[in-house]
Amino acid sequence: MLKSKDLLGLRDCSAEEISEILDGARAAKEFLKGSSKKSSALAGKTLVTLFYENSTRTRTSFELAGKYLGANEVNISVATSSVQKGETLIDTGKTLDAMKIDFIAIRHPMAGAPELLAKNVNASVINGGDGMHEHPTQALLDMFTLREKYGKIKGLKVAILGDIKHSRVAMSNLFGLGKLGAEVYMYAPSTMVPKEIEKLGAHMAKSREEAVDGADAVMGLRIQLERMNGGLFPSLSEYARFYGVNDKILGYAKKGAVVLHPGPVNRGVELTPQVIDGERSLINEQVTNGLAVRMSILKLLAEYREKNL
Ligand code: CP
Repeated sequence: MLKSKDLLGLRDCSAEEISEILDGARAAKEFLKGSSKKSSALAGKTLVTLFYENSTRTRTSFELAGKYLGANEVNISVATSSVQKGETLIDTGKTLDAMKIDFIAIRHPMAGAPELLAKNVNASVINGGDGMHEHPTQALLDMFTLREKYGKIKGLKVAILGDIKHSRVAMSNLFGLGKLGAEVYMYAPSTMVPKEIEKLGAHMAKSREEAVDGADAVMGLRIQLERMNGGLFPSLSEYARFYGVNDKILGYAKKGAVVLHPGPVNRGVELTPQVIDGERSLINEQVTNGLAVRMSILKLLAEYREKNL
């Protein structure tokens, strides 16, 4: 049973809550393998997707998760909504609440926006990524992918390479993987390392080889060009050469180690095309698992609402 009406981040989620979401995703994935993707689990419930930033995977999978579970589903196009007339986030949320909706999946460029919304609406708010803060559903699908591959998370070594400073995916993975007992090693250009990241449980490696040495999984991070003020590394080709994931660097990982990336990938920058399309890559599986994880979250939040609200 989840302990809150909202899912805002993994820093505040317990290991039990995370495991419950992953267990639910396993059942959802079995459902997705079936010939009919129609359930009535969320019949009569309404999900709104409210994305202030671009998205393909997160928004589409929330929308499909709602539809497959039988919920009504509405997407607010921020570009054509009253947000453009200056309506505040809280007023937008209260307006949606007044229409008796049940869930809002939100992505916002400002860290903390989902929490602010959650405090001001009756609907359950799910964070689909807020600034450089957290992207909990991405980390949950990453953990689900690893658990499917290895049968466990505890004791795995996960190497995360790239733009850690601007990455909400890295933060949520650090919290979630740590709670389930994995060791997280990170390597990044010094300009892309958040201050005091080691106090949050990360092992900061001194080289890419050290980070990847003996790893069970290697995760490349997208360069967040939209969150940079410029000048954090000399060129994309140098970034690829010194911080990217290629077959040579994967030679340091365990035999059979897998490659993850949250997408969208800058091909040839964070990962070589050979790695993206290679046999170790679970990138497409991650997308399927994202749908299963978001179905699980919606079902569990619906149960919380039924019992507590
Ligand atoms: N991983 C992820 O958040 O992808 P989208 O930006 O396409 O949602």
